[in-house]
Amino acid sequence: MEPYSDKVMDHFMHPRNVGEIADADGHGKVGNPVCGDIMELFIKVKDNIITDAKFKTFGCGSAIATSSIMTEMVIGKTIEDALTISNKAVVEALGGLPKVKIHCSVLAEDAFKLAVDDYLKKTTGKGLPNFKPHEE
Ligand code: FES
Repeated sequence: MEPYSDKVMDHFMHPRNVGEIADADGHGKVGNPVCGDIMELFIKVKDNIITDAKFKTFGCGSAIATSSIMTEMVIGKTIEDALTISNKAVVEALGGLPKVKIHCSVLAEDAFKLAVDDYLKKTTGKGLPNFKPHEE
């Protein structure tokens, strides 16, 4: 198997923003039926800016690393800007992932989008347009 980048190892060994946000404005939970990993992401939003994000991941090291870096990448961004962060951008930010681990980054993108979807449903009554979590 291809080796993991230093950045993946760093986020796996020292994950950022681990935990829950009890009064989260949005919450997304996704799972991959093949590997059984589960990822939850919580966001706080103020004036259309993501002011905080936390995650809980019951999964592999890559799932932990991708959700960790995803929280770092979305904090401080507007919802619109944060939504442009694809799983590919997450993989690039981590310095790459082995092919068999790309789906872990898809979980991170979907968990974040589901959290935004939840936030929009609560605040506007309508979820994220045209959004469906990926299926393996
Ligand atoms: Fe499935 Fe990483 S092996 S999320």
